[in-house]
Amino acid sequence: MFKITKIEGNKRYFAKLMKGFTKQAQQLKIGLLGGGQLGRMLIQNAINYNLSIYALDPDKQAPCKHLVQKFSVGALTDYDTVYEFGKDKDLITIEIENVNIEALKQLEKEGKTVYPQPQVIELIQDKGLQKMFYQRNNIPSADFFLVEKKSQIQKYADFFPFFQKLRKGGYDGKGVVKLVNPEQLDKAFEAPSVLERLVPFEKELSVIVARNANGETKCFPVVECEFNPQANLVEFLFAPANIKKSIEKEALRIATLIAEKLNIVGLLAVELFLTTDGKVLVNEIAPRPHNSGHHTIEANITSQFEQHWRAILNLPLGDPAIVKPGVMINLLGDFGYEGIARYEGLEDVMKFSGVYVHLYGKEKTKPFRKMGHVTIVENDILKAKQKARLVKSLLKVVS
Ligand SMILES: Nc1ncnc2c1ncn2[C@@H]1O[C@H](COP(=O)(O)OP(=O)(O)O)[C@@H](O)[C@H]1O
Ligand SMILES: [Mg+2]
Repeated sequence: MFKITKIEGNKRYFAKLMKGFTKQAQQLKIGLLGGGQLGRMLIQNAINYNLSIYALDPDKQAPCKHLVQKFSVGALTDYDTVYEFGKDKDLITIEIENVNIEALKQLEKEGKTVYPQPQVIELIQDKGLQKMFYQRNNIPSADFFLVEKKSQIQKYADFFPFFQKLRKGGYDGKGVVKLVNPEQLDKAFEAPSVLERLVPFEKELSVIVARNANGETKCFPVVECEFNPQANLVEFLFAPANIKKSIEKEALRIATLIAEKLNIVGLLAVELFLTTDGKVLVNEIAPRPHNSGHHTIEANITSQFEQHWRAILNLPLGDPAIVKPGVMINLLGDFGYEGIARYEGLEDVMKFSGVYVHLYGKEKTKPFRKMGHVTIVENDILKAKQKARLVKSLLKVVS
């Protein structure tokens, strides 16, 4: 059987692009792995360019369900499911990194374009490989050790306090545990993991960088994230971050360096620590749109979702500059409520100017489930912060 090589496949894909954007837009079948809220916001921008999106998600009620050409239900980590889904697509992309890499590699071999590239997703799926990558490339990050099982942690008794992180499968704080002394070892994970030195930080920062196949890169301005310690989710995001110029410069330098060293095509979110002694260290990275970029829909000239399509279609990247300062709050399921979601206080917050509510189309709420987000834009970031606290006190997801 004739096998299309990767180069031929890419040529065919770029030939389609050359035929003119409108025609290409109608011709390309774009497969999206994951059909959650990130996919939903990607689709909002895909509409502007006549892009045809097909999505795969394990949840038959996923937020993208009604918004795509065709919605398929299946496991993103299963080889056959991902391979079959990708077989008739031209371009495959992701909104979640926990996907079957072998299937993506095979699809790439058969001429499909997969952005971000499977090797990049593979590296990012494993926090151990991520740490080794930072070390190899002189990218500042906290010291670490790799362990295969819990009993090996004893060896690093001198190393306390640290964070133990599962190498694979963690998200939103699940898969991360803080271990302060050997007495806390019963809390430790019994799985291959990274032991990372505890970083005393002043702030958690984030930069989203985009890179297209031409090698053009553009960074969104640095933002500042405040986490809810209970839920381990972003509670408030402030854009731009209140940091010195030199810190901003360093954060953007690191994000661009990582994107270039990875050769990524697509978006890369870079989570950073600003340490109490003024250093910028990488925490972790994600190869897709990110919670720390939601405000860009209203607060920046180009949103992260628009930028993702531009990057993976090898179009000129948009201007990421800020139009107005913004604050983003996640709308999480309120504690003590489980069932069909109701949004209390919605009308109250909609009376305010510059308050943009985004609901994710999830029928059921449970404590801390990400049900939506709200962006508040103002000429003055202090006013935006005040309004955000008010919105947070008024708007609740209950059942
Ligand atoms: N080495 C560290 N020192 C201090 N805090 C950390 C460290 N690693 C992680 N954290 C805290 O835990 C949170 C979650 O860790 P992270 O590695 O980003 O996992 P996740 O994949 O769940 O987002 C971080 O946002 C930060 O608040
Ligand atoms: Mg994180």
